[in-house]
Amino acid sequence: MSFQSEIVNWYLKHKRALPWRDTKDAYIIWLSEVILQQTRVEQGLPYFNRFLQHYPTVLDFAAASETQILKLWQGLGYYSRGRNMLFTAKQVQDLHNGKFPTKYDELIKLKGVGEYTAAAIASFSSNESKAVLDGNVFRVLSRYFGIDEPINSSGGKKQFLELAQALITDQEAAIYNQAIMEFGALQCKPKSPNCSVCPVQSGCEASKNNLVSMLPVKLNK
Ligand code: ADE
Repeated sequence: MSFQSEIVNWYLKHKRALPWRDTKDAYIIWLSEVILQQTRVEQGLPYFNRFLQHYPTVLDFAAASETQILKLWQGLGYYSRGRNMLFTAKQVQDLHNGKFPTKYDELIKLKGVGEYTAAAIASFSSNESKAVLDGNVFRVLSRYFGIDEPINSSGGKKQFLELAQALITDQEAAIYNQAIMEFGALQCKPKSPNCSVCPVQSGCEASKNNLVSMLPVKLNK
């Protein structure tokens, strides 16, 4: 079985039930992804629920005041995220008639939506074949393929992005992207991953060469 199929099968068995995985609504996915950018799932979950309760649609969000948004955001840190979100919601209202875009090329033009978030929203909401590349994906790919290029060098980023994008061909982009991130979060963990129960251990370069704890490589800048 291919690496991708193994990862998806693992995901279907082990995934956590998380509310933003049950929707194709680009607004709800955006909300979850921005909250989770610098925040752990357990911490972000109640915030996600509260925001969705207060602002069920992007137009409700766009109509909020900055004070209201920042009040709901309290405790999450990185308050510029909350402020940028209000700006983004207003852009969606003005430029897209209140309909949150689902295509990467439209998403990437929105304020505060970077490559990762655009790929996540496009793949989860419309199954567009755009690979997500977050810390989890860097770790899984660097270990499985034995890549020691620094993940925070421009050459390294380019190499990982090309590989991640090549792997997504012919896959269900929505499920595969969720799967590889979840695999990194729960199985291929930063510290002491339990490789003996890993479904792709036999093909893993880091495991074969005893480099699991050395990868990924990150430069101190
Ligand atoms: N962290 C960032 N995005 C996530 C997602 N969609 N599911 C779980 N954890 C995440």
